[in-house]
Amino acid sequence: MDMKRFHFTIRIFTIIVLSSLIYSCAKPKKTDVVVPPVDTVYTLTPDTLFYPPHFPAPEIPADNQPCKEIEQLGRMLYYDTILSNDGRYCARCHIQSNAFSSLSLYNNSMPVLPHENLAWYTNYMWDGSKSGTLEDVMKFEVETFFGTDLNKINQNTKYKALFKKYFKTTNITHKDIAYALAQFLRTVITRNTKYDKTMTGMATLTSDEYMGYRIFFTEKGDCFHCHINPIMTDNNMHNTGLDSLYTKEADKGYFNVTSNPADLGKFRTPNLRNVALRNYYMHDGRFTTLEQVIDFYDHGMHKVNNLDPIMSKAYKADGLHLSSEEKSQLISFLKTLTDSAFITDASLNNPN
Ligand code: HEC
Ligand code: HEC
Repeated sequence: MDMKRFHFTIRIFTIIVLSSLIYSCAKPKKTDVVVPPVDTVYTLTPDTLFYPPHFPAPEIPADNQPCKEIEQLGRMLYYDTILSNDGRYCARCHIQSNAFSSLSLYNNSMPVLPHENLAWYTNYMWDGSKSGTLEDVMKFEVETFFGTDLNKINQNTKYKALFKKYFKTTNITHKDIAYALAQFLRTVITRNTKYDKTMTGMATLTSDEYMGYRIFFTEKGDCFHCHINPIMTDNNMHNTGLDSLYTKEADKGYFNVTSNPADLGKFRTPNLRNVALRNYYMHDGRFTTLEQVIDFYDHGMHKVNNLDPIMSKAYKADGLHLSSEEKSQLISFLKTLTDSAFITDASLNNPN
């Protein structure tokens, strides 16, 4: 072997050894739950989460920057009944094959909100009753919604070891659990819909889908002022004229949070990704098909006095006047927001 070839072989060998080292630290094994000695300093693997170029950069709290190990820990907790005292776990209602929503109503009265792109949310729940970072909401979920028993989790050998290793703590708190869950949820990103692909030049809409897209994104349908691209929500509260009287407590919406009559009937704009996979629409699941939703926007609106200014523009004061063809084109477009890769993504399923 001449020297040139010899050096080349050495170089290739070094690359193989180095990359297998990097690979082994970037990919902790699921079964890696051995309690490290107290003085071991474990270095976490930062995760540069991949966001498509057409997405804005999400804001992530400085004290909970993404790390692969903690995202995986959050994923384990998401699928684990240990968090509750009655067999519940997050993924029992937030089901991956339904885009982390559910096909049945919660308490027979409310659709389960999906977990999709929550990294870009600033407020949460149908009535906007929670706001802040994902860490803040997760703290509510663990502390209040589930009432997670800290003794139980602190006595669990697996979690005790993992939190010790990754959070350097021997006393797991609600905050630690919330931080891990928030990290996992930031990896729950839907970005591979046909619509996304058209934005990156990887797919083309059919002519019906394209006409629907035009209705959605122009004054004709005027949907885009609230369901804003690309997350399909503006993170804001609106009264869309769904009701003229607020007969159920839940119909009062944001009013239940602020007690301000101007907030009666206001709801948080839902994200429309994977909307065709849902069985129930609106805060009380009153509609069961997209056709019913579009009919509502077309001619079902009530002119209440705090109707959103976007809904009460003069030209559409008595409805959108869409033809039946236009309605079905709009629905064809909404169906391009379905992400089949997301609902089967093996990196988001039950790891336990
Ligand atoms: C029993 C069913 C159920 C379980 C279990 C459950 N959720 Fe939910 N989740 C819901 C429902 C219903 C809503 C909508 C509630 C509302 O708007 O008031 C919701 C809403 C949310 C939201 C707000 C989403 C948005 O778009 O605003 C987040 C975040 C969330 N859940 C996280 C979790 C986490 C984390 C867990 C586990 C710790 C969990 N949920 C367990 C039913 C459930
Ligand atoms: C003024 C803001 C606004 C505009 C404009 C708007 N929406 Fe909405 N949209 C909302 C809000 C708020 C809700 C939730 C209302 C509720 O639950 O009571 C909603 C709900 C929906 C839902 C149900 C989603 C679900 O998960 O239940 C669909 C579908 C929808 N809108 C599509 C559209 C389409 C299509 C257009 C245009 C024709 C449009 N929206 C225009 C704010 C708006």
